[in-house]
Amino acid sequence: MTEILIERCPRVETERLVLRKWEERDLEGLIRMNGDPRVMEFFPSLQSSEEAKRYLEISIRQQEKHGFCFPVVEDKETGTFLGFCGLNVPGYSGPCVEIGWRLIPEAWGKGIAVEAAKFWLGFGFETLQLDEIVAIVVVQNHKSRRVMEKLGMMHDPAEDFDFPNVPVDDPLCRHALYRLSANRFREQANG
Ligand SMILES: CC(C)(COP(=O)(O)OP(=O)(O)OC[C@H]1O[C@@H](n2cnc3c(N)ncnc32)[C@H](O)[C@@H]1OP(=O)(O)O)[C@@H](O)C(=O)NCCC(=O)NCCS
Repeated sequence: MTEILIERCPRVETERLVLRKWEERDLEGLIRMNGDPRVMEFFPSLQSSEEAKRYLEISIRQQEKHGFCFPVVEDKETGTFLGFCGLNVPGYSGPCVEIGWRLIPEAWGKGIAVEAAKFWLGFGFETLQLDEIVAIVVVQNHKSRRVMEKLGMMHDPAEDFDFPNVPVDDPLCRHALYRLSANRFREQANG
């Protein structure tokens, strides 16, 4: 049922963006984004072209399985690859759906992550009828935390956690968990 619903919305337009599934043609943009130290500041390493290729293959496989995997964000006017933003079924925990984002630096600071994420939250709660959507973030990643806050996601410091298999003295170890319930999403939507 979920898959059928998702197949009905393979490509969506928002005010400034096209939100869509991954395609082979996204490889060039993905290589550039995942090889940029500004973008990867809060990730363990930059990705090589080979690693980005593998990442794209996995994303395409995951979206075949779940209908989505951090979908692509494209500039509506120019067709430029801006990065990804949206829902994903994570491999790190039990059954849940997360939301996440990664954009090329030229697209930062324009509210693009929020514009894309708002659509995907609505899709998650209204179309997929999810009860909750979560997000995780390295605690020092204030840009991303700000996006979570602007979306009305809730953070309880008591739920902060050490990411598995990362040494505890590594600055990328400590993560914050944000949650948004369907009820809170609806309350916000109704003002
Ligand atoms: C996180 C990311 C997607 C944000 O996208 P974006 O479209 O630029 O988001 P916004 O335009 O809404 O701006 C982010 C907000 O963070 C704020 N911000 C920027 N730098 C900040 C900092 N160092 N500390 C605190 N807030 C900061 C901005 O002022 C803005 O808030 P405002 O609208 O209230 O002014 C983008 O920075 C990115 O791709 N980063 C690299 C990848 C990454 O870290 N992904 C997240 C992993 S969890």
